[in-house]
Amino acid sequence: MCGIVAYIGEKQAYPIILKGLKRLEYRGYDSAGIALLGDQINLYKKAGKVSVLEAYAENQDLNSTIGIGHTRWATHGAPNDENAHPHLSGDSELAIIHNGIIENYDSLKKELTKRGHTFKSETDTEVLIHLIEDIRTNEKVSLDTAVRIALREVVGAYAIVILDKTNPDVLVAARKSSPLVIGVGNNEYFIASDATPIIEYTKNVIYLEDEEVAIIEKGKEIKITNIKNQAVTPYLHQLEMNLEAIEKGGYEHFMLKEIYEQPQSIRNSMLGRLNLESGIVTMGGIEEFESKFLNANRIIFVACGTSWHSALVAEYMFEDLARIPVEVEYASEFRYRNPIIDERDIVIAISQSGETADTLAALELAKEKGATIYGICNVVGSSISRATDAGSYTHAGPEIGVASTKAFTAQITILALMALSLANKKGTISKTRYHALVSQLKCIPEMVEKVLKTNDQIKYIADLYKDVSNFLYLGRGYNFPVALEGALKLKEISYIHAEGYPAAEMKHGPIALIDENMPVVVIATKVSNYPKVVSNIQEIKARNGNIIAIVTEGDVEVKEMSQFTIEIPLVDEFLDPLLTVIPLQLLSYHIAVMRGCNVDQPRNLAKSVTVE
Ligand code: G6P
Repeated sequence: MCGIVAYIGEKQAYPIILKGLKRLEYRGYDSAGIALLGDQINLYKKAGKVSVLEAYAENQDLNSTIGIGHTRWATHGAPNDENAHPHLSGDSELAIIHNGIIENYDSLKKELTKRGHTFKSETDTEVLIHLIEDIRTNEKVSLDTAVRIALREVVGAYAIVILDKTNPDVLVAARKSSPLVIGVGNNEYFIASDATPIIEYTKNVIYLEDEEVAIIEKGKEIKITNIKNQAVTPYLHQLEMNLEAIEKGGYEHFMLKEIYEQPQSIRNSMLGRLNLESGIVTMGGIEEFESKFLNANRIIFVACGTSWHSALVAEYMFEDLARIPVEVEYASEFRYRNPIIDERDIVIAISQSGETADTLAALELAKEKGATIYGICNVVGSSISRATDAGSYTHAGPEIGVASTKAFTAQITILALMALSLANKKGTISKTRYHALVSQLKCIPEMVEKVLKTNDQIKYIADLYKDVSNFLYLGRGYNFPVALEGALKLKEISYIHAEGYPAAEMKHGPIALIDENMPVVVIATKVSNYPKVVSNIQEIKARNGNIIAIVTEGDVEVKEMSQFTIEIPLVDEFLDPLLTVIPLQLLSYHIAVMRGCNVDQPRNLAKSVTVE
């Protein structure tokens, strides 16, 4: 949520910052801005995408080797030029970029107004830079000291970088609950919300920790202190990401590229965990806490969005195979509900970004109450992965499209491996089923490749239904969460209203909506509840609904009742979500493209939601 990027060094800052903003645009894209230091701080900011800013700045004087930039997802104040970051202090000597929310900005603003400050924007960020300016001027302290004092007064989340006209060789950065990475180059530094703007210049990075302030000075070593001004030794990490992984590689959109990457990302998630010869599943994170897992009272999953849907699939997997009671919680509800948790519980957070504010807060609450906390994240070194006792990375590679696709199937792969490993250790699965599932899991990447071949057929269906106003998605058992995910994918990128439902629940409400204009996507593969789903399809057909069914290869019964069927290979229901979700991802993608929507950056959404 909001992308920040800054540069200090020998090179021209503007092109580096602009390119960085384009890479970070998935985090927010309602306005963008850059501040460069010349004789004064020069500001360029515009409502709209980074390309609007680029066009605006084109013929201006952009000569500078130090600057800061921001791409915004509005929280306080409409997305217009004035509210776009960077924001200046009252004396125009400081400029700030900020990702996060200053919750007590209103009381701070009132106090500062009494002291003579006036504000140009409606943002919480402008209040913060005025506060820092006020402290620096009145207490006659250095910028970093003023930042530390100010941050002690602030309630909320922040990743900030500040540019100072009076000190042209220094940037000051700080973070709390919002990510910030510093790339260490040759006589130059890059600062960003994640590593994607940094990777093409250096692989050496420092992850700033909560409540740390960094003084980044040209030609000098970075100095880090906490907000109490105690020195912290920076730890240099090596990035493993490569540039190719964050580019479109010939695809029209990141989302399509990421859909097509799934055979490989699923394979990568199994790598080193599933021994293809012996069929043994080894999950490092679980082994470390083996007795806790085997004796767990309950497993509670906390997550948001698509990751919450993965958690719902996990509920079926873990209860079915490992016989451990599972609860699945929206992180945002869990954290404020005074939940009953104790040390016999394991709380597992699922998060692609590893930065979702609600998920992180839910984990911290569970930790306070003594539970063992585990993370399933895609982004290495992310806040959630660092906050947990143990965890498993999904290894899906960077996911840039705002609508999550390959992260979902990578999460399901990890969850399947965990459920299999636990079931095997607990003896709650027969050896025959265990080995059958392991060998099917091995074949999933090839099966996904086969499902992707239905793309042209799905495109044809998309063309017929692209103009409808509503869609219903139905599934049962393991495929109920997939129905929710299919509906979410469609609504978030095409803006068509879509609802996911357990197929049997349809008759308690949504059935009233069914008429000849209502397309109903039904997951009707040949798994245990197939006959029940067939009955549900009959109910839709009786009301003239349009049925688009995901079926098992060779299916005859559902084919006769449906307008369209998309065939996928037969697999155990435990692994079915890894296949059934693929046609739903493609359907939403094609409908959105045909409706002229921006699939990679749908309106109002952001990839990484670092505010609650
Ligand atoms: C946002 C994204 C979704 C994502 C959700 C949870 O809403 O747009 O794609 O599923 O956040 O994010 P996480 O990074 O925690 O999985």
